[in-house]
Amino acid sequence: MKKRDTFSTKIGIIAASAGSAIGLGNIWKFPYMAGINGGSAFIFIYIIAIVLMGYPLIYTEFAMGRRAKSNAVDTFGIIGGRKIWNFAGFLAVLTVFLIATFYMMITGWVIYYFYNSLTGQLYNIAQGADSITYYKDIFAHLSTSFALPLIFSIIGIYITALINSMGIKEGIEKYSKIMMPLLVVIFIVLIGYSMTLPGFNDSMAFLFKPNFSSISPAVIIGAIGQAFFSLSLGMGALITYGSYISKTENIRTIAWQVTVADTIIALFSGLLIFPAVFTYDLAPSAGPSLIFISLPQVFLKMPGGRLFSTLFFLLVIVAAITSLVSILEIIITYVIEKTKWSRKFSTWAVVFAVTVGGAINIAGEGPWSYLQLAGRSIFGWLDYLTNNITIPLVAVLTAILSGWVWGIASLNEELEVGGTPSTSSDRYFNLLLKWVIPPVIIILMIALLLGIQA
Ligand code: TRP
Repeated sequence: MKKRDTFSTKIGIIAASAGSAIGLGNIWKFPYMAGINGGSAFIFIYIIAIVLMGYPLIYTEFAMGRRAKSNAVDTFGIIGGRKIWNFAGFLAVLTVFLIATFYMMITGWVIYYFYNSLTGQLYNIAQGADSITYYKDIFAHLSTSFALPLIFSIIGIYITALINSMGIKEGIEKYSKIMMPLLVVIFIVLIGYSMTLPGFNDSMAFLFKPNFSSISPAVIIGAIGQAFFSLSLGMGALITYGSYISKTENIRTIAWQVTVADTIIALFSGLLIFPAVFTYDLAPSAGPSLIFISLPQVFLKMPGGRLFSTLFFLLVIVAAITSLVSILEIIITYVIEKTKWSRKFSTWAVVFAVTVGGAINIAGEGPWSYLQLAGRSIFGWLDYLTNNITIPLVAVLTAILSGWVWGIASLNEELEVGGTPSTSSDRYFNLLLKWVIPPVIIILMIALLLGIQA
């Protein structure tokens, strides 16, 4: 058999893993979720979830992947010692496939906004026209059409697939090392500008001034779901990347770095978006359309807005593509190992399947939008079911598998390869994995099934 590809440098692993974590989840979803769920209350729970549940699950997924050196599905069976565990991995890969279908759609929307910012079309508004109606119409036109968003989505997935088709070292690692620094630079420029806006102080208060009164079960569930989505947990992403990490790397360090990088970008995305929203008196609770309807109005009013807008949407594209690469890679690695097809063929087969799913999502927002169930479209349901059911379920199964079946001793043994002997704080995190994460997630899932909405 051909030797399994591996990442060649530590910085490459970090860039690729941070690239997977930092995505639409940080820049598009985190600000609007915080906006809907009361700002600081949401963020408070989010950070607790990241540290106490996210970080231990990240190093666990990496360790499982590196030990098994296999795709996400078989890794569960190998680590659990019984094939029956494969179903958990299968659930992970199925989840990521479903996510891929709507991630592709939103990436397409972002590319459309980037393109129209670049050409100036987005800011070509008639004198005296109402900007709110104008941007609502643009977004409605895009999201309810079929061919238009499909074409832009296909451009996004095509660029992504070119990277996947080149492999781990020559594709994912190489391009992550270029794209992640680019992302950081654009981010710093935009944040620097945001800090000069009058709404900056209001945003700091909204996002960080403690306000425990808005904490509710729904906020807690939403924040934990968001933490997992943002760290790419419970979907086999880090298992797959872990399987390409060499035995000389310290997994715990990499896990910390990815956790911190992802959290910083999420919090700063809040600080990037809300000052503008507050400065121009828009609603922080606008929801998923926040960056598509609210932000363009801000760019319209601010000096140099078109340039900032173009940079902003470029930033989101870069973030989305480095995530979509990892989303596709989970499925591609699985397909390669199950079928023995070449990487290129497997990549395009996966892209084809995801595109069909993407087209269904796109139709669900547009021509098939009458197909609603309990007020949710196809995309609405996929987002809801993955975030609230399958991702938490895989996360629980991962914690149970590693904490109870594989065992903390074996997990530690793998973590110490290329790392350092466990310290007492390391041991506390392992205890969380065994005793805290499973019951907490299970209780929350039951609460959700009993009707508490996220
Ligand atoms: N974490 C990514 C983000 O915040 C999105 C994501 C969801 C993801 N599921 C994934 C990335 C699975 C990789 C693998 O946008």
